[in-house]
Amino acid sequence: MKNEIYAQLAEKAVEMKKFSQCAYSNFHVGAALLAKDGTVFTGCNIESSSYSLTICAERVAIFKAISEGVKEFDAIAISSDYEGFCSPCGSCRQIISDLCGSIDIILVNNKNEIKIYNTADMLPYAFGDDVLNS
Ligand code: THU
Repeated sequence: MKNEIYAQLAEKAVEMKKFSQCAYSNFHVGAALLAKDGTVFTGCNIESSSYSLTICAERVAIFKAISEGVKEFDAIAISSDYEGFCSPCGSCRQIISDLCGSIDIILVNNKNEIKIYNTADMLPYAFGDDVLNS
């Protein structure tokens, strides 16, 4: 059951690469975020000519969900055309940790193979609101 849901989530992330706006890097990324209620929020990377304004696919999906009042998640799938497994950048790891908590992070390579990690694998010793509220 979970395998099937994660396979569908991975497929959605692969599909989302087609919307990627990556004129500068030509590196297409797609993401699909699974909320606890089963809703899927999707994202792709969107680049700006002012490079630092670029936003990653993961953050687009997460911000879409948060902006619609959804706050509980099970997993995020991330797909690229890289032969290895493209894993979230440092900024996205912090955002995943802050806004999604402990979730599964499903990486999809260009052969549609997957590897599954979790938030703590990606960002050990994370800074978070527990520190701010101590
Ligand atoms: N990118 C993502 O969207 N997600 C990642 O996990 C890594 C990097 C994007 C940002 C930029 O548009 C392009 O990939 C190259 O860095």
